Amino acid sequence: MLILNKIKEIKDEFNLELSNVKNIQELDTLKNKYLSRKGLVASLFTMMGSLSPQDRPIAGNELNNLKKSLSDKISSHALNQSSEIKISNKIDYTLPGANLRSGTVHPLTKTVLMIEDIFQKIGFSIAYGPEIDSDFYNFEALNIPQHHPARDMQDTFYLNDGNVLRTHTSNSQIHFMMDNEPPVRIIAPGRVYRNEDVSVRSYCLFHQIEGLYVDKNVSFSDLKSVLNYFARELFGNDVKTRFRPSYFPFTEPSAEMDVYWGLNSESDKRITKGTGWLEILGCGMVDPEVFKNVKYDHSLYSGYAFGVGIERIAMLLYGVEDIREFYKGDTRFLGQFR
Ligand code: PHE
Repeated sequence: MLILNKIKEIKDEFNLELSNVKNIQELDTLKNKYLSRKGLVASLFTMMGSLSPQDRPIAGNELNNLKKSLSDKISSHALNQSSEIKISNKIDYTLPGANLRSGTVHPLTKTVLMIEDIFQKIGFSIAYGPEIDSDFYNFEALNIPQHHPARDMQDTFYLNDGNVLRTHTSNSQIHFMMDNEPPVRIIAPGRVYRNEDVSVRSYCLFHQIEGLYVDKNVSFSDLKSVLNYFARELFGNDVKTRFRPSYFPFTEPSAEMDVYWGLNSESDKRITKGTGWLEILGCGMVDPEVFKNVKYDHSLYSGYAFGVGIERIAMLLYGVEDIREFYKGDTRFLGQFR
């Protein structure tokens, strides 16, 4: 039978080629040549039709054996190959290890998280206001009308559509009060923008956390005690604070709180301008005009608000002397906050 000779020929040829195979790719090519749908083995199967009925089962049997033996040889060869690869890739324990550098939480984020924690412990929840806002929310509703000199306190970035980049997180107060009935107990962290000259102490972008507390019979001493609690939690039990009278159009009376940091190092001197004190927040009792603007009954409710400067606090906590460091994304700086 012609076909039986063919089978033997193909088998011999295959064995020879297999012994010359050097890598996986060559093995693959060989497999395709013999065993694919249009391969040599398949082409023998097409010859079956021309065989006599007696020869057909014999040839069929031989062909199936051939097919099985070729694919067995290919698989066992593949196995040997990969075990060779395993051996050649074995680990060299004397090589120095790869240095995987892990990321860190940004110092400003760390500071915000710490402050959020402190206020959440005493029942404040977190709210957010938009960074792009209308003149109404950033100024008007906060009792800062057009042409009011207080607008000069904050150099504003105006957008072409008439909106502003918020100059403080106080816009969150208005949004929250317009959407919710009293009582209110929130803090609202976020970015704020001011068109100021960039220097060691100021940047065109920085962070604040706004606080707002509205209820019946809220007094200035409530405000002082909460802010003193905050300072103790953040800086330790023997921190010294002082309240200085100040002015904000949306609070009356208004104050600023300083913490005493001391003058122990050169960096303390520079950060506190040689006084040992640093202002970290503005605060006051919510002005009745603001309550009118958000339709709260100002004869029934009173409240306090405060705005904490995050960069100031982070500079104190971590001894950072240049505010711009926070915005450079320099991993040598950021890597220190692991
Ligand atoms: N919004 C004020 C500022 O940015 C801070 C402030 C907030 C003052 C809330 C009083 C009450 O300077």
